[in-house]
Order: sequence, then C-alpha cells, then structure tokens
Amino acid sequence: MAVKPRATFHFPTGFLWGTATAAYQVEGNTTNSAWWDWEQQPGRIRNGDRSGLACDWWGGRWREDFDRAAEGGQNAHRLSVEWSRIQPTPDRWAEDAIDHYRQMARGLVERGMTPMVTLHHFSDPRWFLEQGGWSSEACVEKFAAFVRKVVEALKEYVSTWVTINEPNVFAYCAYVIGVFPPGEHGLSKAFPVMENLVRAHAAAYQVIHALQPGARVGLAINYQSFHARREWFLPDRWVARIAHTLFNEFFPRAVYDGRLNFIYKRASLPQAAHTQDFIGINYYTRYYLKFNPVSPGTLFADQSFPPEIETGDNGWYANTPDGMFEALRWGRRFGLPMMVTENGIEDAEDRIRPRYLAEHVHELWRAVNFNYPVKGYFHWTLVDNFEWERGWTQRFGLWALDRETQVRRKRPSANLYAEMCKENGLSAEMVEKYCPEVFEKLFPV
Ligand code: FCB
Repeated sequence: MAVKPRATFHFPTGFLWGTATAAYQVEGNTTNSAWWDWEQQPGRIRNGDRSGLACDWWGGRWREDFDRAAEGGQNAHRLSVEWSRIQPTPDRWAEDAIDHYRQMARGLVERGMTPMVTLHHFSDPRWFLEQGGWSSEACVEKFAAFVRKVVEALKEYVSTWVTINEPNVFAYCAYVIGVFPPGEHGLSKAFPVMENLVRAHAAAYQVIHALQPGARVGLAINYQSFHARREWFLPDRWVARIAHTLFNEFFPRAVYDGRLNFIYKRASLPQAAHTQDFIGINYYTRYYLKFNPVSPGTLFADQSFPPEIETGDNGWYANTPDGMFEALRWGRRFGLPMMVTENGIEDAEDRIRPRYLAEHVHELWRAVNFNYPVKGYFHWTLVDNFEWERGWTQRFGLWALDRETQVRRKRPSANLYAEMCKENGLSAEMVEKYCPEVFEKLFPV
C-alpha cells in the first residue's frame, strides 16, 4: 500500500496573509454615499435588503474583528476608506471621520498587521454623482484632492495603496448594466468613464508618490478566466477573447504603457504609463462563454457553468482553482510584484470553502514556485457583509454574521486559514483535516 505523502507547501518569508473588506460593506449607516440612496429605491437590491448597521465597524466593532484576524495569524489586512464620510459635502473635510480611519490603521499596526488601504471601493459621495460622477472629466481633480487628504492623514501607518478597486467591474456594473449607481446603460456610456478612471488612477499615483516616495501603489482588477463554452466553436472562442481583452486587460494595460484598447477604437494617455508598483488581482472564478448574437450589452456572450463544475450557494462563483494560476501567469507579463487582493466564495454552510481555499492557495504556491513574484494573499472576506445589489444573500465570511445580534460565529474555514497563516503554508495535515476529499489531488502519491 502506498504511504500517504507528508509535505508542506511553504511560502517565502514575509508573505502577506490577510482578508479584504470594503468600507460600505462593513461599516453601517453610510448615509452620505450614493449607494445609500440607491438602496432606498425599490427593486435595486435583492429582497429589498438594506446595508443598515452592516458589521457595525463604524460603531467600533472593527476592533473585535481585527482581534479575530490577528488571532487567526493574519499579518495584513486590506480595508477601504469611504470618500462620502471623509468629504460628506464638496466643501467639507470631516476630521472626525479621518481620525476614525487613523485609529483603524493604527489598530492594525498595533496588532502586527500590515494595512493595505483602498481609496475607492465602488462607493461615491452623493454630491460627487450629482456633479456628474465619473462621466465628467472633473472627477480626476476631485478624486486627487480626496486622495491627498487621506494619504496625508494615514501615511504614518500605511504605505500600500490600492487606488481604485475593480475599475472593470465598477464601470461595467454602474455604466453598462446599471446595477450600481448611477445605473447607466450601454458601452458608449462606459468608455469615457473607463478613460476617466485611468486618469484618476494616474493622478492619484502621482499624488501618493509626491507625499510618500516609498509607497507601493496599485490597482486591483477583477480577473475573470473566460473560456469558450464550446472549445470547438470559433464564435465562442472569439467572445471569450473579446471579454478577456476588454474586461481583464484594459486597465492593467492602460497603466502599464498608457494605451487604451476599446476593441474597435484605440486611444492613448501617456500620463498613465508606468503608474503601478504592483498588480492587484481579485480572482474568484472562471466563466464559460457562449456566443449570443442578440446580446451586445454583454459583448455578445452568455455565461454558464458546465454541469460538472461546482459552484457556491447562488451559482455566482465556481470552484475553478486553475484559473488562479492562469491569472497569475497572465499578470506576470507586466514585470511587477503581484498581490492576490481578493479571492473567495459564497458559501453559508462552509460546504466547499475549505477545499476552495486549499485548492486556490495550492495554485498560488505553484505560481510562487515558478518564481512568479506573488507577495500576498487576501481572502474575501473576514465576516459576512453587505454584498451590493445582492444584499445579504451572499455569505463570503470566514466568520458568519448574525445581523440582529451582531454575533459572529466561526466557520471551519477560519480555522483552516488560521493554520495556513501561522504556518506560512499549506500542509498535508491541514488538507486531511479540513478537506480530505482533495487530498489526492493536492498530494498525489
Ligand atoms: C468583488 C468586490 C467585493 C465583493 C466581492 C464578492 O468583486 O470587490 O466588494 O463584492 O466581489
């Protein structure tokens, strides 16, 4: 009988292990955000859900959640600051809100965790949208002024910055399919916005480096592994290629060499070239695309999962770990350090999360062993939180949240992740204990 392999897949010293969160999703009562108004409109949020108190971080529960993260061996945390709190009206900086974020950043450092701060994570101040939002070129100056204010206040504790979270998802959801505020529809609305987001990122990059020359600044893009549903059918392969070029490549390319590739037209923004110190990759899932000639809004593609692919609770994301390796192999071409800034699955019962986590980290380890410069991994997310237009229907937390009582309950994956963070690696024992069903896949005899 074969002896079971015993091994640990270790990561380089100094590798960052953390979770990622976003202000609007966890803080609660974010009443000056355009999202707050959006939530009040009927039909916008699944089941009419409201963010309400969310995880009550603004009420102070960030402290207990940071304790949970630190006790779980995490040495980093990615959080975002909420523009609508810091600048509730165009002419006012809310010093108390800024101070609140200083306490949070200090709170991380005191717990031995490296803070990574996202400056824009899907939520805009109400006044900003009223003034034209990201469709108006004036957005660049406004965003840069906000960034200056935040960096001046937090630079004592923070040196790793994500300017804009998932500009690709944001532009798509807010300006193509209209499920985020301001609810615009159509690619022709989205293209100028994409260009403005690149400009805003580039301006933020310069502002941050002027204030903090040693800062590490990046974008976090959502990388989706687009595959043809029918490999043999050329149109399926075309739509997968187009989706990849526009969705995955547009922003990283723009901030790499200043070229904007809108598929049927091109432009150039030289000031955006070389405005990235690391690549942030949010990887969740692979999607399989089928050509659909009557669906221009989705770039002529329908997405689905083949029946053998396992998905999370709502069929939103699938467990397709080799897409993690694909994303990192793709990201490597930019010649910069990489961070996995989000990765996770909706799974209230923790039915597949342990194997999702182990298999994705295993792919990450493979990439590190090919000398891909991956420097950290942030799981989405620490505690269940308000999932945008999907409301409270998605349970991504290592900890479950009871919204009524604000009580947190640990899911088994939190223990697995804690063991991984403390070991700086993934061991055969961990896989045997938490997800024996993938043991042979990860540790073949
Ligand atoms: C990402 C977002 C994050 C959360 C997860 C599930 O696209 O960045 O805020 O919604 O998906």
